[in-house]
Amino acid sequence: MSSPGSESSTVAGGTRAAGGAATRDPGPRASGATTAPAAGAPPLLEAVHVRKTYRLGRVQVPVLHDASIAVRDGEWIAILGASGSGKSTLLHLLGDLDSDDDRGPGRRRPERSARTQEGSERPAERAIHRGEVRFLGTPLSKLSLLARNRFRNEQVGFVFQFYHLLPELNVLENTVLPAAVRTSLRSGWHWVSIAAVGAAIGAVLAAGLGRLLLGELVSSPGELAIAGGLGAVAGAGLLPLGVVEVRSLVARFGSARRAMVERAMELLGSFGLEHRLRHRPRELSGGERQRVAIARALMNHPRVLLADEPTGNLDARTGQEILDLLAEQHRQGLTIVMVTHDPVVAARADRQVHLRDGRVIDEGLADQA
Ligand SMILES: Nc1ncnc2c1ncn2[C@@H]1O[C@H](COP(=O)(O)OP(=O)(O)OP(=O)(O)O)[C@@H](O)[C@H]1O
Ligand SMILES: [Mg+2]
Repeated sequence: MSSPGSESSTVAGGTRAAGGAATRDPGPRASGATTAPAAGAPPLLEAVHVRKTYRLGRVQVPVLHDASIAVRDGEWIAILGASGSGKSTLLHLLGDLDSDDDRGPGRRRPERSARTQEGSERPAERAIHRGEVRFLGTPLSKLSLLARNRFRNEQVGFVFQFYHLLPELNVLENTVLPAAVRTSLRSGWHWVSIAAVGAAIGAVLAAGLGRLLLGELVSSPGELAIAGGLGAVAGAGLLPLGVVEVRSLVARFGSARRAMVERAMELLGSFGLEHRLRHRPRELSGGERQRVAIARALMNHPRVLLADEPTGNLDARTGQEILDLLAEQHRQGLTIVMVTHDPVVAARADRQVHLRDGRVIDEGLADQA
């Protein structure tokens, strides 16, 4: 866990990492399991002083209170806690699937100080910070919308508590999905730039031709319509250029699609699911569904896997098979944050922390203190 004292250096690390942290190409994973992170390097992923309160009308359900956790590159952490203690909530915040109280709707500024009944400030409570989740030291709230989408899609793999496979898609299609989203995210700016350039050319042509033909800048709606029509006719002259552009995009999507399918088949094959590629989720056993969910989460080579009760709905033997599979990924360098209520399952991780009263308690650190 990060202490208030370590916070300033972490923020400094975040500034250095800003801009590139969440958008860089994942590339091959470093063998984090065996390589110690550079001294002073920020954690791979951390939640710092986050709070989360669910609001149901007038009812407030406080779940997390000043919860902090730092995940180092190459670690396998288990988060233990009773049912309802907020394990899934914390995992969703780490994966940027939900907002904490300081960023979400109805957010409030953190209390700067608290007063005792006598009216004096309690020093220990002056230090309550604004909560945030950071990736490689960069607060997610500082990233652009596109960079955050890419963080969720490329840096994090999420295994949900109840699989969340799409019932209409078969095993292969479910697995390929994150890569298809990545392709569309990456090409998003391409389309925006084409649209912007096209609109600018159209506007210039419309205004220029309108002015030429009408003798002055268009000023009434009728003139605007005529100028717009002329602009559209002129724009049609650019159609051949547009067709060339679209063809090159299709070609790129074609090769990207082949690469996606190959990656998905490789993953599914290594998880023993090669004979289930065309099956729908309802035709699979619980263990098979979980393996598809893990394959989907690994599709984009994430830096960190967030797994919510990955064995929770499975019998003991199938649960062990899933843990063996995670252990193999971890051995290859994958950082894992796993939520469980089962100490036996948690024992497979390198480090266990507990979620209690809305806070993360690292008993290993408490013992050392
Ligand atoms: N969307 C929501 N709206 C309102 N309350 C919620 C919502 N999601 C969770 N909660 C409540 O927040 C608390 C924590 O839920 P969470 O799912 O994080 O617990 P958990 O530790 O994962 O539990 P479990 O081990 O049963 O999965 C629970 O009391 C739950 O009822
Ligand atoms: Mg849960």
